[in-house]
Amino acid sequence: MVFSLFKKNKEEKKKGSQYLSLKVREVVKETSEAVTIYFEQPEPYLEYKPGQFLTLILEVEGKEERRSYSLCTSPYVDPHPGITIKRIEGGVVSNFLNDKIRPGKTIEVMKPMGHFTIDFHSKNKNHFVMVAGGSGITPVLGITKSILVNEPKSKVTLVYCNRSEDQIIFNDQLEELEAKYEDTFEVVHTLSRPSDQWSGYRGRLDEEMIEMVLKEKVHPEAEEVKYFLCGPEGLMHATIEALQKFDVPHEAIHRESFYTSSSEEAEKTEPHEAEGDQPELTREVEVELDGDTFQFEVSPGKTILEAGLDEGLDMPYSCQSGLCTACRGKLTSGEVQMDEDAGLSENEKKDGYILCCVSHPKSGDIKINIG
Ligand SMILES: Cc1cc2nc3c(=O)[nH]c(=O)nc-3n(C[C@H](O)[C@H](O)[C@H](O)COP(=O)(O)OP(=O)(O)OC[C@H]3O[C@@H](n4cnc5c(N)ncnc54)[C@H](O)[C@@H]3O)c2cc1C
Ligand code: FES
Repeated sequence: MVFSLFKKNKEEKKKGSQYLSLKVREVVKETSEAVTIYFEQPEPYLEYKPGQFLTLILEVEGKEERRSYSLCTSPYVDPHPGITIKRIEGGVVSNFLNDKIRPGKTIEVMKPMGHFTIDFHSKNKNHFVMVAGGSGITPVLGITKSILVNEPKSKVTLVYCNRSEDQIIFNDQLEELEAKYEDTFEVVHTLSRPSDQWSGYRGRLDEEMIEMVLKEKVHPEAEEVKYFLCGPEGLMHATIEALQKFDVPHEAIHRESFYTSSSEEAEKTEPHEAEGDQPELTREVEVELDGDTFQFEVSPGKTILEAGLDEGLDMPYSCQSGLCTACRGKLTSGEVQMDEDAGLSENEKKDGYILCCVSHPKSGDIKINIG
């Protein structure tokens, strides 16, 4: 059945299979700027892969807000799933979660998503170089714990970049892990503004430091060396550039972006000015969602997600800037133009997946299947 005019009320909206409610079990203050929220296990238990994220749906000052937060826990180690949230200056949701969330509160989330993860095998003898900056430690910690427990022959070196000693999230947990897995896990800290007492590395991560890690830390007998990067844009660019200078293959580098300033720039620019070949026509698109088919129009300058939400469709989304993949759909007919596709892997692109939050119709007869 095809619906063209479609308005759902709020209650109906959230009954889709991708949503669930989680009860806050504990809130741990990690630093002055970050908290970890642990949830009670739902029934059935939350299924997730280390490094994946939850999308939280919250009402803040009367407005619905959605934000993604990576799970800092490991499904192989931690009894309760948890997320860690670092304050952003002026940030609506990060400050709300740091200041207002208490045990007992129920939070609506979308089920875990994301491809910043790996499969494990006890026979693997790999070396993992993790590079994390600030809150970027969150998915990296979940993956690290999972490697240490699942792959006893693999090794992990974590390069962890922070401003100062008091801003190192999970410092105690990392020290405990280093003591427990002394042969297979090492943390290399670097601080941009340390105290006078700090005896570790100083300054931002640069080529020299990457060279030191590659030459001194990476195990020469490792079958494969894999890189996992998560942190501010500048840190990730610098790391990728340095790794490329040392001929690290593109496929060995995995990264997760929490934020890109280019999405802010894109918002400030009129879409048709930013994209010379931006479609100028209002086009009709057809979206298959949870077994139902809907048709709606997308006017120039709007994304397919924006137009669908305007129609009252319960299309999944979170970051709305092409990073999180919550809005992913498979294009089964027609052509779209994506403003940003960093969230999609090469294979996903080849298989026809698109991100509705950054896609504009480029042809007629567009059909998208969203699970
Ligand atoms: C896949 C994914 C996983 C994520 N995991 C985590 C996580 O584990 N922990 C965590 O703390 N955050 C994580 N984030 C970021 C998080 O979703 C929010 O973007 C962040 O908390 C800011 O939300 P806010 O409502 O406080 O800020 P907003 O009110 O949305 O923004 C306030 C201002 O800050 C800018 N801004 C927004 N986010 C950032 C940022 N990350 N860095 C710098 N400036 C920013 C905005 O452009 C705006 O100017 C993740 C994001 C993605 C896409
Ligand atoms: S909503 Fe995050 S990629 Fe589209």
